[in-house]
Amino acid sequence: MRHLFITALITTFFTACSPSKPSPKVTPMPAEAATEQPAAQTFPPPLQLAQQKNCLTCHTLNNKIVGPSWRAISEKYKGQDMKATLIDKVQNGGQGSFGAVAMPANASKISVDETAYLVDWLLKGAPTQ
Ligand code: HEC
Repeated sequence: MRHLFITALITTFFTACSPSKPSPKVTPMPAEAATEQPAAQTFPPPLQLAQQKNCLTCHTLNNKIVGPSWRAISEKYKGQDMKATLIDKVQNGGQGSFGAVAMPANASKISVDETAYLVDWLLKGAPTQ
């Protein structure tokens, strides 16, 4: 099959280059279409996503309510390799980092990808822009 294809290509080549016939217009193949990557998943701005996922019932940007503020979490972990730990904590809940009050599991409300996005935001210092 491959051999036949190559033969056909060579034949076409020679036919195309033969001076007796006008050379056909070569249309480039849309090669990009086949190799194109799926677009990166896009999320709403972090605070908007946190709002949609009910995180803001316990967390605010600057003030402790039931849970620590985003800023306090950010300051505690900024620059540390805590991404996996924090994703796990948000998904499955837990206590002890900021006191005895536990965070309930959120896995039924927020996907791992969305959690990772919010944790990345926190580890960057929770910028509002
Ligand atoms: C019912 C209240 C509540 C909700 C809802 C809640 N949290 Fe929490 N969260 C807490 C408490 C309490 C803590 C402190 C836990 C501790 O001291 O270990 C906490 C801690 C955290 C931490 C730091 C964990 C650590 O170990 O330092 C992160 C990150 C976090 N929450 C993110 C989220 C995100 C994202 C959502 C929304 C999907 C969310 N939280 C929803 C109460 C909540």
